[in-house]
Amino acid sequence: MNLTDQTVLTFFVIKGISDAPSLQLPIFLLVLFIYVITVCGNGTILFIVSQQPQLHTPMYFLLCNLSVLDISYSTVTLHKILVSFVSGDKTVSVNACRAQMFIFTSLVCNELLILTAMSYDRYVAICNPLHYSTIMSRSVCGILSSVCWMLGFLESMPHIILISRFTCYKSKVIDHFFCDIVPLLNLSCNDTSLSKFLMFICGLFLATFPFFLTFIPYVFIIRNIMRIPLKTGKYKAFYTCSSHLTVVVLLYVTLVCQYLRPASVETLESNKLFSLFNTAAVPLLNPLIYSLKNQDVKSALKRSWHQLTKKL
Ligand SMILES: *[C@@H]1O[C@H](CO)[C@@H](O)[C@H](O)[C@H]1NC(C)=O
Repeated sequence: MNLTDQTVLTFFVIKGISDAPSLQLPIFLLVLFIYVITVCGNGTILFIVSQQPQLHTPMYFLLCNLSVLDISYSTVTLHKILVSFVSGDKTVSVNACRAQMFIFTSLVCNELLILTAMSYDRYVAICNPLHYSTIMSRSVCGILSSVCWMLGFLESMPHIILISRFTCYKSKVIDHFFCDIVPLLNLSCNDTSLSKFLMFICGLFLATFPFFLTFIPYVFIIRNIMRIPLKTGKYKAFYTCSSHLTVVVLLYVTLVCQYLRPASVETLESNKLFSLFNTAAVPLLNPLIYSLKNQDVKSALKRSWHQLTKKL
C-alpha cells in the first residue's frame, strides 16, 4: 500500500533499534550511558579550555568547536531512543523529521570541516612555527570556524529541499533510530533518483575534498618531524598531532562503515546496533582521545581539579 498525496502524511513512526519488549530496557540504559558519558566528556573539555588561559590557543578553540558539535550530534541522533522509551511515543512529525535530517547532515559536514581546519592549524604550528601566531590569529581562526559552520549548513540544504518535495511514502515506519536520509529515501515512492544522485555527488565531494585537505598537511608534518634531530623534540611535535590524527581516522572509518554498506543489510537489528555504535563512538571517544593522549589537556585537567576542590 502506498501512502500518496490523498493520505497526507503528517508523522512518521521511528521504529528504533528493536521491537522486542525484552530489549527495550537494556537498549535504553546503554544509550543513556553513552549519552551521559558523551555530554560529560565534551562538557569537561569546554570547561577546562574556558578555565585555563594556557589553553587559549587556536587548536583548543577549534577543539571546543568540535566538542559543541559532538554534544549536538549525539543529542540529535540519540534523543529519540531515550525520549520514546520514557514517553512510549515513537512518532515524529514530518517537519521534525526533516529538521532532524537537516541538522544531522549539517553536523557531519561541520565535523569534517572543523577537523580539516584543525589539520591546517597543526600544519602551520609544526611547519611554520615562527609565523604561527600571525597566520593563525584570533580573527583568521574565527573566520575559519565560521566558514566551516556555514558550509556545513549550506551543503545539506539541497538534500532537504529535494526530500521535502516527496509526497508519497510506502509506509510510515522508519526502520532506524533517527531520521536519516537513506532510510527516508528508501521509504519514498516518488522518483528519488535526483536525490540519490545528489547524495552521491555530495558524498564524493565530501569524502574526497576534506579528506585530502586533512591528510595532505600530514605529509608535510611528518616530513618536518623527521627532520627534527632530537628525539624528545620529535615526540613533543608528534604528540600535539597524534590526538588529532586519531580523531580524524576514527571519524573517516566510522563514516565509511556507516554509509558504504549495501542498503539491503540496513534493516537487520545487528546492523542497527552497529550503526548505533558508529554514530555514538565519535562523540564519545573524541574527548577521551584528547584528554588521554595530550599532556597539555592532562595537566590542565589536574589544575582545574585542584582549583575546584580548593573552592569547595
Ligand atoms: C570556535 O572556534 C573559534 C575560532 O577559534 C572560536 O573563536 C570560538 O569561540 C569557538 N567556538 C566554541 C563554541 O568553542
